[in-house]
Amino acid sequence: MIDKINQLKAEVESLTAATQEKAEELRIKYLSKKGEITSLFNAFREVPNDQKRQVGQLLNELKEAATAKINDLKESLENSASTGSETDLTRSADPILLGTRHPLSIVKNEIVDIFARIGFTIAEGPEVEDDWHVFGALNFPPEHPARDMQDTFFIEKDPDVLLRTHTSSVQSRVMLNQQPPIRVICPGRVYRNEAISYRAHCFFHQVEGLYIDKDVSFADLKQALLYFAKEMFGEDTKIRLRPSYFPFTEPSAEMDISCNLCHGEGCPFCKYTGWVEILGCGMVDPNVLEACGIDSKVYSGYAFGMGIERITNLKYQVKDLRMFSENDVRFLRQFESAN
Ligand code: DAH
Repeated sequence: MIDKINQLKAEVESLTAATQEKAEELRIKYLSKKGEITSLFNAFREVPNDQKRQVGQLLNELKEAATAKINDLKESLENSASTGSETDLTRSADPILLGTRHPLSIVKNEIVDIFARIGFTIAEGPEVEDDWHVFGALNFPPEHPARDMQDTFFIEKDPDVLLRTHTSSVQSRVMLNQQPPIRVICPGRVYRNEAISYRAHCFFHQVEGLYIDKDVSFADLKQALLYFAKEMFGEDTKIRLRPSYFPFTEPSAEMDISCNLCHGEGCPFCKYTGWVEILGCGMVDPNVLEACGIDSKVYSGYAFGMGIERITNLKYQVKDLRMFSENDVRFLRQFESAN
């Protein structure tokens, strides 16, 4: 009996277990009702009385050692299970950082949505263009002084391939490909050879509008633009049209809205005039219709073009144009709540 106890004691001391299940198997093997140590306790009754004291003591020591050893094994397995794994499934999830829409995209979408409600569909065109679509078809003859205001970046010379200076180039593309009725809105990026400052950049964004059908009049143009101004800047917004010049429209006008900061009272933003300029517009010049294959005796139309940066500045008072392209998240995050 004493030999058996000693043998088991040595065995118990060198026990190892790789998993909780293995440790439990050891407990069953030695300490359960039918376990090896328990059965020694059962056999204890047969031990002669004079040895009972010594054997009893050894047996108790063995049971204590086995219990302590197996508990130790279980405990250390439990600890390593919680620290050993990289994934803590009980931890609350890290918040997912949601990006925000760029302010120019917010405003572009708003402009497009407003015109979509009165039947305009989107048309797009390339940013790298030829001279004909940007200038020629739009009634800018070679050497015409109106070209001076739209110097750009040339990719190839003779024939000229260049970065478009306005989205009006999409006008010519649509008219060349489609007969009236035409009612399109053309958002996009445009380029100009400008010194970069807080109020000018070598690229910016425009939205062009074009409507061609039978009997389209200046009154239609004015009504569509008034609707746009009210939708964009509020119901009490007023508009005024000032005569202007663009090669591709005749007559041409510049449109102002009543200053949405001071409501026409006069403030530094509107230079105390109560008005701010937001777009150029006019009736499409018959020369442009003809150059694009549309019969100017049957059809007439209006066009307008606006800078998205300009409208965004009016809506959000962004003082420096360069911020739109700096990718500074401190600036961009401020538009989080805008849709
Ligand atoms: N393309 C002009 C510009 O970039 C803006 C413009 C003015 C577009 C009048 C038009 C228009 O369609 O009718 O300055």
